[in-house]
Amino acid sequence: ANERTLSIIKPDAVAKNVIGEIYSRFEKAGLKIVASKMMHLTQEQAEGFYAEHKERPFFNDLVAFMTSGPVVVQALEGEGAILKNRELMGATNPKEAEAGTIRADFASSIDANAVHGSDSAASAEREVAYFFNDNEICPRG
Ligand code: CMP
Repeated sequence: ANERTLSIIKPDAVAKNVIGEIYSRFEKAGLKIVASKMMHLTQEQAEGFYAEHKERPFFNDLVAFMTSGPVVVQALEGEGAILKNRELMGATNPKEAEAGTIRADFASSIDANAVHGSDSAASAEREVAYFFNDNEICPRG
């Protein structure tokens, strides 16, 4: 089905100056960027976004990392976009990520792992709406 998913280029990848290389991978895979913005997340924005991980031992480090520098947030649209984006990203831990994936190529640790992508239809819906109003999304046929 035609889907939307939420993607974040994390502070480590922005600092490495690979925004364009990552966008190129989305586009080459047939995903369309239908909304996009660069922002420096506040503590509240990062905590709210990752609320489901609040009880996990890595939560504080995750929020500290995600607020350490600018990120680029985008909504991707296309056939099977949620799974396609997860395949492009590779495993959460870059040590386990398949060769040729974004995390294998650009990530250095499980915390500084270059990108985030929604993991289900329900989280995609919540996460796209977390960052974008309807009038900021520009669907393209
Ligand atoms: P992300 O897809 O953004 O979702 C939560 C993030 O927490 C994850 O990517 C990792 O960068 C980070 N993280 C740190 N430690 C862990 C862990 N043990 N398991 C899962 N995610 C972790």
